[in-house]
Amino acid sequence: MDETTFKRLIENKTRKPDPMRYKNAAVKYRRAGNSGLKLPELALGLWHNFGSFDNFEIMRDMVFTAFDSGITMFDIANNYGPRGGTAEENFGRILRESFAGYRDEMIITTKAGFPMWRGPYGTGGNRKYLTASLDASLQRLGLDYVDIFYHHRPDPETPIEETCYMLHQLVERGKTLYVGISNYNREQTEAAVKVFRELKTPFILNQVCYNMLDRTIEENGLKALAEEAGFGIVVYSPLAQGLLTERYTHGIPEDSRMRKSWTLKEERLTPAFFEKLSKLRDIAAARGQTLPELALSWTLKDKAVSSVIIGASSSEQILENIKINPDFTAEELTAIDGICNS
Ligand SMILES: NC(=O)c1ccc[n+]([C@@H]2O[C@H](COP(=O)([O-])OP(=O)(O)OC[C@H]3O[C@@H](n4cnc5c(N)ncnc54)[C@H](OP(=O)(O)O)[C@@H]3O)[C@@H](O)[C@H]2O)c1
Repeated sequence: MDETTFKRLIENKTRKPDPMRYKNAAVKYRRAGNSGLKLPELALGLWHNFGSFDNFEIMRDMVFTAFDSGITMFDIANNYGPRGGTAEENFGRILRESFAGYRDEMIITTKAGFPMWRGPYGTGGNRKYLTASLDASLQRLGLDYVDIFYHHRPDPETPIEETCYMLHQLVERGKTLYVGISNYNREQTEAAVKVFRELKTPFILNQVCYNMLDRTIEENGLKALAEEAGFGIVVYSPLAQGLLTERYTHGIPEDSRMRKSWTLKEERLTPAFFEKLSKLRDIAAARGQTLPELALSWTLKDKAVSSVIIGASSSEQILENIKINPDFTAEELTAIDGICNS
């Protein structure tokens, strides 16, 4: 760590957000589907680098950098860590120590759906798990309510009516303002939308993976459904966990996700992959962008996308990623499709 960064981390302990934050913000806002809620085009996700083994002062620094840049949405889940729950605890501490008085400028989201505690009531989409999990998340975050609570993945063992009605009740109980779903395909989303409409639930988002290398939501019709049904898509892993950056251009760094986590496998780094990257880099350069700027701009090209959640391991990465230009020519889009499908 260089001296300037070290000094900044020390100063962060007593500083407050930049008073000029909206005037200087690089990030713009979009409506979440047809709702009245505006979301920043980029959000910060806490899946990695906010757990018990990570440096707390770097986490705090990233939250400051994000917020000062206009990234006002922070995406968390009950199980983010490792250990599960520690991302919420760490973010809760950052809120308490550095952002007291700024809650109303932030969109704070959490989720439940993956295994969180032992036994049959620590996972899924049933009433018992969802209600207990959100209570535990609020406690770790130190909050009375979150802005968006997502069901993290479909649960084939729970009727969709049960999951949706529980989410609806969590809104009625004042524990969340809006609800979302995540990793639901087109058919599963249609089934949920039907129930939410009957209940008049403020359902606004489906959070899914989308990037130049992963076109699932184009292929399964979910992106088209979002526009038809009026909810927003929130994109996760827009940089394919770091593959669509220069992170692996000169080998696998010891501090990278590929070394530190099981979620990104070394097998992805094939000669064919690097060839694609090189061609995408040429398109980025012709647009005056870096590779991650191209990748993020591309995910924001569709109206259906309300926000894109980036991950980061340093403030420098966040600052490298915020120059977005979502306008593409038809030729550029065709060229990108050709490269990615080759
Ligand atoms: N709903 C779900 O099921 C689900 C699933 C996955 C993710 N998510 C959410 O989406 C968020 C984002 O996902 P993600 O972390 O996979 O997103 P991502 O933006 O595709 O990947 C982030 C990683 O890319 C690398 N990176 C970012 N900017 C870089 C730059 N300028 N240069 C070099 N490397 C760069 C960093 O890797 P290093 O750590 O190696 O530096 C960073 O941790 C998560 O935090 C989570 O909130 C949700």
